[in-house]
Amino acid sequence: MERTFVMVKPDGVQRGLAGEIISRLERKGLKLVAMKMLRISKELAEEHYAEHKAKPFFSSLVAYITSAPVVAMVVEGKNAVKVVRKLVGATNPAEAEPGTIRGDFGLDLGRNVVHASDSIASAEREIKLFFREEEILSYRRENDVWVYEK
Ligand code: RTP
Ligand code: MG
Repeated sequence: MERTFVMVKPDGVQRGLAGEIISRLERKGLKLVAMKMLRISKELAEEHYAEHKAKPFFSSLVAYITSAPVVAMVVEGKNAVKVVRKLVGATNPAEAEPGTIRGDFGLDLGRNVVHASDSIASAEREIKLFFREEEILSYRRENDVWVYEK
């Protein structure tokens, strides 16, 4: 099963949307295998968004993501990376389709509520940044026979 990293950003937590976002992932059939609430340090933010270091919005992005607590999680499922990116929607909430998290709950590019890994390689890197191996749980879900054909 594929794993991806998802994070309710500070605006999502402040607006009371953490439960709604977690619920959407659960209702899709995805399995939560790790979760924690934390206030991201400047160092962790810079590492997490390292690919954007040279971009003009980098410092405001780091300020945003460190501004208040976030909810970080690891989510598992068939094609989890692609499926979660679809649930999250386009980067700019103004362009994200209704029915997606950003399409339903956001208006501004710099307040887009949620993060999700954009590739399997990013997911592996980001999961390692936020979680130790022993914090990621391995468990059986009896209802998986009703989520997956095989
Ligand atoms: P994320 O990494 O947060 O899940 O978002 P994403 O993949 O959809 O978008 P990405 O290109 O990785 O951008 C990371 C975050 O930076 C902010 N951003 N601002 N002002 C701008 O042009 C701009 N572009 C991106 C957004 O908050 C975006 O989520
Ligand atoms: Mg990204």
